[in-house]
Amino acid sequence: MELFLDTANLADVERLAKILPIHGVTTNPSIIAKEKRPLLSALSELQQIIGKDKLLFAQTIAHDTQGMIKEAQYLREHIDNLIVKIPVTAEGLSAIKALTQQGIPTLGTAVYGAGQGFLAALAGAKYIAPYVNRIDAQGGDGICAVRELNTLLRLHKPETKVCAASFRTPRQVLDCMLAGAGSVTVGPDVIELFIQDPAVFAAIDKFDQDWFRAFNKNSL
Ligand code: E4P
Repeated sequence: MELFLDTANLADVERLAKILPIHGVTTNPSIIAKEKRPLLSALSELQQIIGKDKLLFAQTIAHDTQGMIKEAQYLREHIDNLIVKIPVTAEGLSAIKALTQQGIPTLGTAVYGAGQGFLAALAGAKYIAPYVNRIDAQGGDGICAVRELNTLLRLHKPETKVCAASFRTPRQVLDCMLAGAGSVTVGPDVIELFIQDPAVFAAIDKFDQDWFRAFNKNSL
């Protein structure tokens, strides 16, 4: 099971990389734009924080195949071991095929259905990112898409992994893992919901109060 942080915020990555056994960091154009930093310096700072043994992902902006290929090559020239995120359009599929032949690893992104994701896997993508919450928001079933995609991959393309993405709640993340997703990428806001449950703090407070009442101290 692989856990990625879906953010380019350096402070969040620094804090959460100390707490969680992360496999790396994923970004997209909106995530990079939010930090208002040039792409390459944002990526190299993220890589410095997580270490080069962890995976780092960045997305192309071009819409045409040649543009995507050029941007992917540019990103790989500047950032070691980067995995390039390519939107799974017709042009994107063609770029994924070409980049795979060049030995550049890709993640097929903007995936809204199992069939679309499966084609990206056949084209050679290492990871496929179904957008769980965005599928749900359209009235679809994001978890079902993850389950179907994962089943297709396990049967027909076992070397490709589902990297479930786009979450609003911890429940969606758990359901994806139960549906077989081999990796998930989760934003800091949803990660915090896993580890900042007020009920946990209330339970610890009660232990402290009971202890203090009995022993008049706050230590063992
Ligand atoms: C990952 O590949 C996606 O870029 C990202 O998780 C989308 O998440 P959002 O729907 O929260 O923007």
